[in-house]
Amino acid sequence: MPEMKSKHGQEAAAGEAFPSIEVDTQVPVRYRVHFTDDLFVRSNPLLASVLRDGPEPLPRKCLCFIDGGLAAAQPELDGRIRYYFEGCAESARLVEPPIVLPGGEAAKNGFGVAQTVLEAARAARISRHGFILAVGGGAFLDAAGFAASLVHRGVRLIRVPSTVLAQDDAGVGVKNGLNLNGAKNFIGTFAPPAAVLNDFYLLRTLPDREWIAGIAEAFKVAVIKDREFLDWLRANAGALRRRDMEAMKSMIRRSAELHLLHIGQGGDPFEQGTARPLDFGHWSAHKLETLSDYELRHGEAVAVGMALDLCYAAAVGFIAPAEAGGVICAMEEAGLPVWHKAMELKSEAGWPLVLDGLEEFREHLGGELAVTLPKPLGAKIEVGALDFAKVKSAMNLLRHRAAARTA
Ligand SMILES: NC(=O)c1ccc[n+]([C@@H]2O[C@H](COP(=O)([O-])OP(=O)(O)OC[C@H]3O[C@@H](n4cnc5c(N)ncnc54)[C@H](O)[C@@H]3O)[C@@H](O)[C@H]2O)c1
Ligand SMILES: [Zn+2]
Repeated sequence: MPEMKSKHGQEAAAGEAFPSIEVDTQVPVRYRVHFTDDLFVRSNPLLASVLRDGPEPLPRKCLCFIDGGLAAAQPELDGRIRYYFEGCAESARLVEPPIVLPGGEAAKNGFGVAQTVLEAARAARISRHGFILAVGGGAFLDAAGFAASLVHRGVRLIRVPSTVLAQDDAGVGVKNGLNLNGAKNFIGTFAPPAAVLNDFYLLRTLPDREWIAGIAEAFKVAVIKDREFLDWLRANAGALRRRDMEAMKSMIRRSAELHLLHIGQGGDPFEQGTARPLDFGHWSAHKLETLSDYELRHGEAVAVGMALDLCYAAAVGFIAPAEAGGVICAMEEAGLPVWHKAMELKSEAGWPLVLDGLEEFREHLGGELAVTLPKPLGAKIEVGALDFAKVKSAMNLLRHRAAARTA
């Protein structure tokens, strides 16, 4: 019988029957985010090459799910995807025709979409060598990706984001999620995708409102990480709003890159620490989304939340008031809202309900608050508390500003 000592030669600690055994391993995370124009035309080899990648036997089984909003806007998409797969039959096989499921926040407000994905994967006998291909907006990808992460404890997921926000943020990272009982993203898993294929051609049918909402996440990551990109956004805000495609492609590419650099080099890809630098402006944004009953799009709520936190950062001296004003004006020029009536909702005792978002954010972080603010513009600082009086003055400032603009 070998001696009962741990690797480090320790004896059993108090309360232990034997020395404990420690597991210490690294889980490598490696995936690529590609950018292309018209993914599903047969002459484009990108998807086929991703499906063929790796040593597993060919052809791979693939199950495809399409966001219902996207499918309605692009009725030809289903046929194009089928035709594409017929052309690369030696690499992959669609085991079912593409399955269309509800898109938008409704996809995350319940288990319906996730459950259908799970059941379809079971019916198709998808193995861990197969693929789930999810094509849609950020909410749809969050729900389908959640289900994919549960099939055989994680089947390979190829995301094809179809909104600006999904291409520049939501679809490129390692998270998915569902909302539960009014709490945004209460459920979810960390599950890196096999690959992300950002197809700019899919964006052509996006309504203006969704197009613009996605610009918010680019401002977010620029304000806290990249002053040069922020200056570029300010200079190109009008072009982005007018749907200048070249400007939009550049914005998506840089925003996705900054998000990925954070995941790859930030030291905490699965968010085990307290800080959430990519959640700048989000403590109030998530609350505003639920307070508005999801009338506010995620990107719009983030713009309003950032306006609030920019004013707050100016009030505490982290940035100059003119800098806060400059970013807020640029967001408006891009067509983003910087105020919403949900900000005015109060409890019977007169308490602004949006401020409950801070407590919910603290709970989400695990008990210790860390709010990311710009200091200076283009870089960040984490603070452990907010001064409510100053938050309320920042809200008043924005309210008066909004009233003056509509007068
Ligand atoms: N997982 C993450 O890391 C992460 C990060 C940021 C945001 N998110 C989540 O992303 C969601 C927001 O995503 P979103 O902004 O993409 O909105 P969305 O997914 O709600 O899509 C917006 C609308 O556009 C439709 N649509 C999608 N593609 C289309 C197209 N090409 N043409 C026409 N219509 C199309 C959808 O059906 C939907 O009705 C939120 O739930 C947010 O919490 C997740
Ligand atoms: Zn966001």
